[in-house]
Amino acid sequence: MRWSTVALLVAPAQAALRFGCSTLSIQRLDPVVEPGNAPSAHIHQIVGGDAFNATMNGDIGEQGACTTCTFTEDFSNYWTAVMYFKHTNGSYKRVPIMQNAALPNGINGGMTIYYTQKDFNSNGNQKIKSFPPGFRMTVGSPGTDSLDKAKGHVGLRYVCLTDKNTRFPELPDFPAKQCKGGIMTVHHFPSCWDGKNLDSPDHQAHMYSTTKEAFAEAGPCPASHPVRMPQVAYETLWDTTQFNNMWPSTGQPFVLSFGDAKGYGTHADYMFGWKGDSLQRAMDSSCMFNACEGGKPLKSQAVAAMNKCAAKKIVQENIDGWVSKLPGQ
Ligand SMILES: *[C@@H]1O[C@H](CO)[C@@H](O)[C@H](O)[C@H]1NC(C)=O
Ligand SMILES: *[C@@H]1O[C@H](CO)[C@@H](O)[C@H](O)[C@H]1NC(C)=O
Repeated sequence: MRWSTVALLVAPAQAALRFGCSTLSIQRLDPVVEPGNAPSAHIHQIVGGDAFNATMNGDIGEQGACTTCTFTEDFSNYWTAVMYFKHTNGSYKRVPIMQNAALPNGINGGMTIYYTQKDFNSNGNQKIKSFPPGFRMTVGSPGTDSLDKAKGHVGLRYVCLTDKNTRFPELPDFPAKQCKGGIMTVHHFPSCWDGKNLDSPDHQAHMYSTTKEAFAEAGPCPASHPVRMPQVAYETLWDTTQFNNMWPSTGQPFVLSFGDAKGYGTHADYMFGWKGDSLQRAMDSSCMFNACEGGKPLKSQAVAAMNKCAAKKIVQENIDGWVSKLPGQ
């Protein structure tokens, strides 16, 4: 897994969470960007608490009955667009999501979620403050339409996997060639908060990104956004390998669920929903990865319980099998 070599060499004094969440739902809902819309404009893959719905308000940590994540106090929702394969005959098929390396076996698709401090080894002598109840944000934008703009979104990258442990190079757009082990999408959120707003009209202005690349951290938060929050990041592994025998001569065939065949518009949404002070307790501790489980300090669950949790399907439509167009497009 990312930086595992570094982690072995340097004993970290600060907490770093890395955990799996199995797929909660794949459907057209987006309670942050399009609250109330069922269906929303394009398909998402979602993990986390089962209160996920077209509209979500209040303290999400107090809503819902289960979570697809390892930590049972985490009812947050995490989501991204979905990847599709476009056949030369014009039909599309959803690319399945596979479990990441270094997670317990048997997780159904989903994502790997990170909450780190300033970096893996230091909080930069600054207290890392948990997100408050009701907090939400997005990163990236489906409207990003050029390679230069995509390069500017330093935390949003693709990795052409040789196997599940491949982490470099990070690319700003879809890999141009076939990837032996699938494609990983990486979404790093900004981690500097204005200290006031739980959200903003564009869902981004209340936050400021100091992300450089991978998990390297770029420096202090600016005066406009002085509060250092956890560095949230998602990794999603797309199993593109079943399409390798259908690879067209016209170039790379993958497309994001809003019709983006370059991948420039990759984006992700975050809805905070940890119960009580659980995330703050974790960030104040010095646990790392799996060592945070089993009540040290976070309560955790086994894979079977993660996989059993699901959100109600509110938008009914065919999201599997071959489809003649991307849902909603
Ligand atoms: C989703 O929202 C609708 C409308 O507010 C509500 O009736 C329904 O119970 C909610 N579903 C879940 C799973 O919370
Ligand atoms: C396109 O090809 C796939 C795979 O062979 C097939 O299942 C699908 O029905 C085809 N679509 C059309 C419109 O022919």
